[in-house]
Amino acid sequence: MTHPLIDSFKGAGQAQVFAYFDQLSPDEQRQLLEQAGEIDLAEIDRLSRTLLGKNAAEINLEGLAPAPYEKRPEHGGEADAWVKAKAAGEEALRAGRVAAFMVAGGQGTRLGYDGPKGTFPVTPVKRKPLFQVFAEKIRAAGLRYGQPLHWFIMTSHANHAATEAFFAEHGFFGLERGRVHFFRQRRMPAVNFEGRIMLESKSAIALSPDGHGGSLRALERSGSLDLMQREGIDTLSYFQVDNPLVRCVDPEFIGWHLMRRSDMSSKMVPKAYAEEKVGHFCVQSGKLVVVEYSDLPMAMQRETDAQGQLRYLAGSIAIHILDREFVRRMARSAGSGKAHSAGSLLRQGSGGQGGRAETNESAKSGEDVALPFHRADKKIPTIDASGRPVKPDRANGVKFEMFVFDALPFARNPVVIETRREDDFSPVKNAEGVDSPKTCRDDQLRQFGRWLTANGTGVATDATGLPALTLEVSPLFGYDEDSFAESWKKLSPKPVIHEGLYLE
Ligand code: UTP
Repeated sequence: MTHPLIDSFKGAGQAQVFAYFDQLSPDEQRQLLEQAGEIDLAEIDRLSRTLLGKNAAEINLEGLAPAPYEKRPEHGGEADAWVKAKAAGEEALRAGRVAAFMVAGGQGTRLGYDGPKGTFPVTPVKRKPLFQVFAEKIRAAGLRYGQPLHWFIMTSHANHAATEAFFAEHGFFGLERGRVHFFRQRRMPAVNFEGRIMLESKSAIALSPDGHGGSLRALERSGSLDLMQREGIDTLSYFQVDNPLVRCVDPEFIGWHLMRRSDMSSKMVPKAYAEEKVGHFCVQSGKLVVVEYSDLPMAMQRETDAQGQLRYLAGSIAIHILDREFVRRMARSAGSGKAHSAGSLLRQGSGGQGGRAETNESAKSGEDVALPFHRADKKIPTIDASGRPVKPDRANGVKFEMFVFDALPFARNPVVIETRREDDFSPVKNAEGVDSPKTCRDDQLRQFGRWLTANGTGVATDATGLPALTLEVSPLFGYDEDSFAESWKKLSPKPVIHEGLYLE
């Protein structure tokens, strides 16, 4: 069988993708051709040459220094500036300039939950799914600022239909249907260590999502940026589907971003301890970069300043504000096929987790702005030479992913602001242990307890601030300190705090 696509794969040394083509049904043939059509062969060739080579250089830490950030007032930050930021953010929200933007295309393998992660129940009393928590926060913020927000949701091929169906089944959790926009991210094929594209079955390529960094090009390709432009939206509040604590509509953060005329802004939390596994905000050659924990030598992670505080203190929690036109600029070059650079950052090196990223050398011209791909060695279910399924027990191939924080070196005036971890960050990543449903539930309870206590109703807690009772506050009652305080003030009579209390 000849077909131009098959010929181009043969020409690129990827004939194995069609090894079983003649044995397939017409439907299967169509599926395989469709999948093959998604692949940019030149890109795969480039990535295989740059990321699979044995001579990848060590990470270049030259000139690396901790990034400056805006301290919260209680840590010496300028209180006035925070007040101004909040006012600026509120004004933008009232003007309808801000949209919520959630990435939910991940595979969620660590949690091991069947279904889109956003459908996972997380709240302590009502067991609301993650999607509902965000939907209610966004709805409440829309009511508060008199301007309903648009919500852009990135899904993957694997979970797109199930995500849309879940929202439809639940009446979009009270949001206006026309303001919730789903779009899929692209996929990348896995390759073996020789750079050959792998098959998952005779009729399917081993494809997986292109990483949360793929969200920038997906926003552009889906027409979302144009839609935003038509709606007068220029500011995107980026968050991830696994973190129900996130203040996904935070006027202070939005205000800092706008006052600084920033392309991309970020929240940091002070690292809890030197070995904590978070990315670090750093500067290198005048650019803001995030250096993953696996790439920063432990000796540096442990360095302290004269006051005994960690030097590399600023941990990244994957919360950003993005300027719409900055996203367009990043997306356009990523789609051009010449993408090859990583801003000012670092390395070509091999990191922990089998991580390697593309070199930044070609970025020096300042024109070639594009997110680099990272390499991750994985166990990839595939087939053997006779077409039988193989479940590998060790890494047998490589996935390529982009990370959204790699856009930071390209951003003008990037600003990093401090946030309190307990107000913004408690993700559900693992089935057990750290960042699990249990830790996330406890952190939600602590937050509800703190809000009640701050408003004059003492809640008995243990030494970690964990209330003795299980209770829950709906985001429609309060989704941050301010909105909670307002609703609480209006409540008369005040409820008795009891097991299972639900405020809505
Ligand atoms: P993670 O890095 O936690 O990855 O994603 P994951 O795929 O969800 O989970 P594991 O590693 O398999 O356990 C952080 C955020 O980025 C999104 C996820 O949905 C989550 O919100 N993400 C990740 C995407 O949207 N697309 C991707 O390709 C990867």
